[in-house]
Amino acid sequence: MKAVEQIKYPINKEMELFEEKFKEAMLSKVPLLNRITYYIVRRKGKQMRPMFVFLVAKMVSKGGFEDRTYRGASVIELIHTATLVHDDVVDDSNRRRGFFSINALWKNKIAVLVGDFLLSKGLLLSIDNEDFDILKLISVAVREMSEGELLQIEKARRLDITEDVYFEIIRQKTATLIAACCAIGAASVGASDEEIKKMHEFGELIGIAFQIKDDLFDYTDSNIGKPTGIDIKEQKMTLPLIHTLNTCSEKDKKWLINSVKKHNTDKKRVKEVINFVKENGGIEYTIEKMETYKNKALAILNTYPESQYKSSLLTMIDYVVNRKK
Ligand code: IPE
Ligand code: IPE
Ligand code: MG
Ligand code: MG
Repeated sequence: MKAVEQIKYPINKEMELFEEKFKEAMLSKVPLLNRITYYIVRRKGKQMRPMFVFLVAKMVSKGGFEDRTYRGASVIELIHTATLVHDDVVDDSNRRRGFFSINALWKNKIAVLVGDFLLSKGLLLSIDNEDFDILKLISVAVREMSEGELLQIEKARRLDITEDVYFEIIRQKTATLIAACCAIGAASVGASDEEIKKMHEFGELIGIAFQIKDDLFDYTDSNIGKPTGIDIKEQKMTLPLIHTLNTCSEKDKKWLINSVKKHNTDKKRVKEVINFVKENGGIEYTIEKMETYKNKALAILNTYPESQYKSSLLTMIDYVVNRKK
């Protein structure tokens, strides 16, 4: 079995039902919106976040769950979709999930509004059902994601990012939502505050590993359904480059910074920077860091007794760092 099939195996039925509910949660009276959300639903992503919600809910409750958990998963995927639509505007990216991004097809104006629509639909799904504990977890994540994206822009403008700030950015822009997935999974089945916190921590650690992997993809030519090599173009310095800057000579450092500052749209120069990073151990160092976070997440998971849900989560952790897209 492929890793994803293995992960989904104990929640196959739930994922099917989820897809229906998710589609329903996007409906609107405005035809243009429905055309766009129809397009979004057809090109679905890996759906890792709802999987986290369901697997954690099942592991913690030792079996069943009800509508609250489905709503939690839908809220998360709605917010995730909203942030991707906005992110492609922010990053000026024209591809997503192997096809055109919303901004590429309908332009920025419409993409901004579609993102807002999806965001509000997500929040309302919790409000209308009085899932206020879920609403609080998700709202904190939304706030942190915006802060993370803005901190990233600030650092891209000044080109003065440190390793600590890099980890803070990825914790905020990505890990916080995966933390919310795991916390909501636990909260939706009535887990204790202590356990919700523990699952939040677990999600945050694996979320950091997840974004490190995403940043590593940018240094490859792999076919991942979205552009690679665009981080430097966007003056976004990620861990491979940060580490290289911290370890190379002053002269090389000047050349690297100058490349990102003034030659970021020159494809040949960007390729040279990527090669320099590769030749100077930037990738190996980054993989090591990713593994550290993965192992910390693993240690938390291993405080749970064996179950099919736990073993799916174990496979999921491996998948996060070994995936091909
Ligand atoms: C992409 O997330 C955004 C990041 C946080 C890197 P995913 O890689 O989970 O996106 P989809 O939903 O599978 O397309
Ligand atoms: C991912 O940002 C995090 C959010 C969408 C908030 P990136 O810009 O790094 O993700 P991709 O690579 O476009 O998916
Ligand atoms: Mg971005
Ligand atoms: Mg992006």
